[in-house]
Amino acid sequence: MSKTHLELTGVEMAFDTPKGPFVALDNVNLKIQKGEFVSLIGHSGCGKSTVLNIVAGLLQATKGGCVLDGHEVNSPGPERAVVFQNHALMPWLTVYENVELAVRQVFRKSMNRKERRDWIT
Ligand SMILES: Nc1ncnc2c1ncn2[C@@H]1O[C@H](COP(=O)(O)OP(=O)(O)OP(=O)(O)O)[C@@H](O)[C@H]1O
Ligand SMILES: [Mg+2]
Repeated sequence: MSKTHLELTGVEMAFDTPKGPFVALDNVNLKIQKGEFVSLIGHSGCGKSTVLNIVAGLLQATKGGCVLDGHEVNSPGPERAVVFQNHALMPWLTVYENVELAVRQVFRKSMNRKERRDWIT
């Protein structure tokens, strides 16, 4: 049997709103094996992006957790890529500079300037 690659267990996401907490996800459970291709389908507002943002490490679940290859996901990482639904670029920067922004954040300590330039181009 193949090993679980990504696992969501009892995930809850309650957003703070002026009217009190809004529970967007309640007890979401999902297991994905390596090599599986999975689509999340549902009506607008059902919570697809919220699930993906938790997997990406951009949101922290208010209950439960997300484990990738045996490691708890608590922050974004270079092994997970996200294509945002809305544009998330800095319009005053060039394409190169937009990419550089993220590459500098992630590889600041492990790559020198030349290595980062090669990675970006
Ligand atoms: N930061 C937030 N604060 C409060 N409510 C939020 C927040 N983000 C999302 N929500 C609410 O959580 C629910 C799920 O939103 P989400 O964006 O995950 O839906 P979706 O399935 O991706 O929808 P769509 O198909 O339109 O992209 C929606 O009701 C949305 O209004
Ligand atoms: Mg969405």
